[in-house]
Amino acid sequence: MASPNRREFLGLLAGGVTATALPSTSMDGTPAARLERLAGFVSQDDDEAFWRLVKREFPIRPNLLMMNCANLCPSPLPVIDTVTRLTRDVDADASFQNRGKFGELRTLARNGLAQHVGADPGEIAITRNTSEGNNTVVNGLGLGPGDEVVIWDQNHPTNNASWDVRAERLGFTVTKVATPRSPRTSDELVEPFVRALNANTRVLSLTHVSNVSGIQLPVKTLCAEARRRGILAMVDGAQTLGALRLDLHDMGCDFFTSSSHKWFVGPKEAGLLYVRTERIGKLWANNVGVGYAGAVRNGAQKFDNLGQRDDACVAAMGTAAAFHDTIGIDRIEARIRRLATRLIEQLQAHLPDIEFTTPLVPELRAGVVIFSHPRVAGGTLFNRLYEEHDVAGAPRGAGVRLCPHIYHTLDDVDRAARAVADVVAG
Ligand SMILES: Cc1ncc(COP(=O)(O)O)c(C=O)c1O
Repeated sequence: MASPNRREFLGLLAGGVTATALPSTSMDGTPAARLERLAGFVSQDDDEAFWRLVKREFPIRPNLLMMNCANLCPSPLPVIDTVTRLTRDVDADASFQNRGKFGELRTLARNGLAQHVGADPGEIAITRNTSEGNNTVVNGLGLGPGDEVVIWDQNHPTNNASWDVRAERLGFTVTKVATPRSPRTSDELVEPFVRALNANTRVLSLTHVSNVSGIQLPVKTLCAEARRRGILAMVDGAQTLGALRLDLHDMGCDFFTSSSHKWFVGPKEAGLLYVRTERIGKLWANNVGVGYAGAVRNGAQKFDNLGQRDDACVAAMGTAAAFHDTIGIDRIEARIRRLATRLIEQLQAHLPDIEFTTPLVPELRAGVVIFSHPRVAGGTLFNRLYEEHDVAGAPRGAGVRLCPHIYHTLDDVDRAARAVADVVAG
């Protein structure tokens, strides 16, 4: 059965909100119709046939294997449809009257996101990306001399250098924790952080899955360790929204940030900031816009009071949540893990001397796979994969990062591994 969010969203899309005399697009079917068609296949037994159907929802250039999820993902047609139709709708009639509907669409998007991440709608701010969410937390806490923030040295600059900049201004200290390069157990990842926590620590700021190593931190355990000591826990989930099942209440973090345009395959320049209810009053807003007094009465909305928004983009966050609901996040997570494991196994089969930055232990990684080979420089491999084999990844130090997603088949992953072997061979 469709969840309330998906049902409500499909109802709105089918009920004319997007259909008000809009010029038709070249896309086939409304977002609602496309999602319903996909839902009809969810129960089918042939798993690979199902994923081929999912792949068809993504209008990626034929033959291109787009494996750069850790940076930017393509969106499926329902999301593109929502963005396109609603953008045209606003451009056809930008009156307050015509744009009145966006209030409801924004509420539905917020509800859909909240349900998707196991939070209350009042705890969700719709931001523009992870960077903005991270900086809202970094800049919004009342820290000063004598206070300490403990971070992971693998955090993204927006959750790493941003703390240094703030510390320089306010006089608190930042301690960077390093974890083992090739961890074998989650205890090896927990222990260095626990050792760093002390009576001065006010914040433990982590990354759920690292974009530079692919390591998945045991964030639930680490948040519990922080909470036991009265320390705030912040989790950057840029690499996990849309890739893993998230239950933020269960995770126990105080703040969680992510982007729509990565694994969530949502609209570009949109994101999510979760602030646990008890912490909303204690976190200062980074930006005060029109209507702030009202926003403050609505929980985390105080953090997305950012002036005129791209309403079509915000509404499409709801479509992206409904898209994930349609497939089922557990099925998506299992698929992403299966594809990452398949990629690792295929690379090992072709290239026995390949080296992995990403841990080989399945529990310590998710969708991000980073590897290198002694016979080829990372930049060369990255470029030749794209230019000669139509495989788009990312350069990562001495190696390359590839992230297969739900728009890849097992054959696609095998092809990517063969392409790597081909480049290494000469
Ligand atoms: C862990 C992490 N945090 C934050 C970001 C920044 O994301 P955005 O540019 O969407 O704000 C990234 C981007 O790769 C990331 O991997």
